Amino acid sequence: MQKEGSEFFEHTYANVDLQRMFMEAQDSLSSEIAWEISRRVDWSQWRTLVDLGGARGNTAGILLEAHPHLTATVFDMPPIEPLFHEHMERLGVAGRARYQGGDWFENPLPEGDVLLCGHALHNWTTDQRRTVIAKAYDAVLPGGAFLVHDLMIDAGRERLNPLMLSLAMTLSVGGSGYTAEECTGWLAEAGFEDVEAIPLQDHDGHTVVLGRKPR
Ligand SMILES: C[S@@+](CC[C@H](N)C(=O)[O-])C[C@H]1O[C@@H](n2cnc3c(N)ncnc32)[C@H](O)[C@@H]1O
Repeated sequence: MQKEGSEFFEHTYANVDLQRMFMEAQDSLSSEIAWEISRRVDWSQWRTLVDLGGARGNTAGILLEAHPHLTATVFDMPPIEPLFHEHMERLGVAGRARYQGGDWFENPLPEGDVLLCGHALHNWTTDQRRTVIAKAYDAVLPGGAFLVHDLMIDAGRERLNPLMLSLAMTLSVGGSGYTAEECTGWLAEAGFEDVEAIPLQDHDGHTVVLGRKPR
């Protein structure tokens, strides 16, 4: 599998100071969104969460804080693991969170009731996204769900921020933005049912797309 988007992460993760700067920037975007996702989705139906590309665990940590019955596995590249342990201690959820280092193109994904993939599919091409989504389908336990969240382009292509993000991804790593309709279609193609798009309240295009795996 060709992986044009990998070079950015290889460069960023080769240096501990850059790792930390990148993680802090991701957390500044994900915190508010994670709190909203913790309220807008019914987490009582699941017990085990896997956050794919979950970085140092900020989103997973917030979901664990909000829902004490959950346990989480964060799946991301191996160099981030020390920052993950430090961050889970800081959030007070270290006892319910574990890290699994790997590459989602190369390695099997951890199984769970609910898999999540946030702000990550825009780094990749549509074929690469389909590969990740198909692997996520295999890893979701029967009766569970897959949630993708991202800054998604609106159907009328009127919101500026998702279009700017898309341009930045195309120029920097060969990825692109996408619409909620496209994402809904990829999940349905992979086998997920009852796929729905849930716009978040920032009015900027942040959207959750949720699909369910039949029992
Ligand atoms: C833009 S960041 C988003 C982080 C986090 N999900 C959030 O919402 O803040 C994308 C994340 O995906 C991870 N990632 C990218 N490619 C990956 C791969 N092939 N396997 C595992 N993780 C990957 C990166 O290391 C990074 O942490």
